[in-house]
Amino acid sequence: MIDPLVILTHPLPQEWIVTLEGHVRLVVGTEGFPGVSPELLEYLPEAEGILSLLTARMDGRLLDLAPKLRVVSNMAVGVDNIDIPYCTVRGIPVGHTPSVLTDATADLTMAILLSAARRLPESARDAREGRWGIWSPTGWLGADLRGATLGIVGMGKIGRAVATRAYGFGLRLVYADPAQYPELDAAYSALRIPFDELLQTSDFVSLHCPLNESTRGLMDASALKMMKPSAILINAARGPVVDSVALVHALTEGWISAAALDVTDPEPLPATHPLFELENCLIVPHIGSATIGARRRMAEIACENLLAGLAGERLPHCFNPDCDDNKSGLPSR
Ligand code: DGY
Repeated sequence: MIDPLVILTHPLPQEWIVTLEGHVRLVVGTEGFPGVSPELLEYLPEAEGILSLLTARMDGRLLDLAPKLRVVSNMAVGVDNIDIPYCTVRGIPVGHTPSVLTDATADLTMAILLSAARRLPESARDAREGRWGIWSPTGWLGADLRGATLGIVGMGKIGRAVATRAYGFGLRLVYADPAQYPELDAAYSALRIPFDELLQTSDFVSLHCPLNESTRGLMDASALKMMKPSAILINAARGPVVDSVALVHALTEGWISAAALDVTDPEPLPATHPLFELENCLIVPHIGSATIGARRRMAEIACENLLAGLAGERLPHCFNPDCDDNKSGLPSR
């Protein structure tokens, strides 16, 4: 029997995907290409599986070209690059990689929160560039953490991991989420409050919600204006949750004091973007999960999901389990 054809949208280290060897025929896209590279299109009619990165848009138009497709496996916890309703209607399971990047992303969130609060990029640059005079009582003053309030928007796994870390720094915790987490409330004195109240009362606002139609542009001009002028916004979720144009106004006109961004809209953010010109905006290039262990486990889980889907088994981490109801579904739109 001939092995199923699988499209890997971007190259991955061989040792991360070793479990695929001998089970699939792999065609691999171009390193660094922002989406699905054009040379992959000719393979879509025969492809039975796709292993994608979060930068590869999987919309209905593209997936229509793959009538034999049985599984899409995303090497990410977020699946906003994939048309989930379309896959569900077609009975195609979509795999993702939750949990294994929780700690790495929560650590990075705290790193950029602290970095912005204590003005590390500015002070490190000043030291390097000869602006380190005698010890100055008023030089590079930053924000205090102990006793300040951290508002967490989206109390999923990553939001909760940030909460446990922040508690250790003496931050008071409030959160906005559709669900209540009584154990978290009890263990970390966290308080679930309405979103607007969170914005108005938090010294730090950290975003950890998924990107979907209700969170796109959540932090628009009116939301940013509700924040305290001394507050710092942290985004390690998805760029489009924050309106970039409004954020430039917020940071230049003093609606808020600073921002720390692991994700931006657009991504990558062009080097000429006004956000890069702002002293009070720290930007890192979507590195929340960029630890050796997390990235390797993400790739391994993506392979496990892919192989399960090809074998017709339930994916270990399936984002749309309701696709099973449509298994015999539509071959195409
Ligand atoms: C994800 O997995 O969705 C993250 O954004 C990758 O860091």
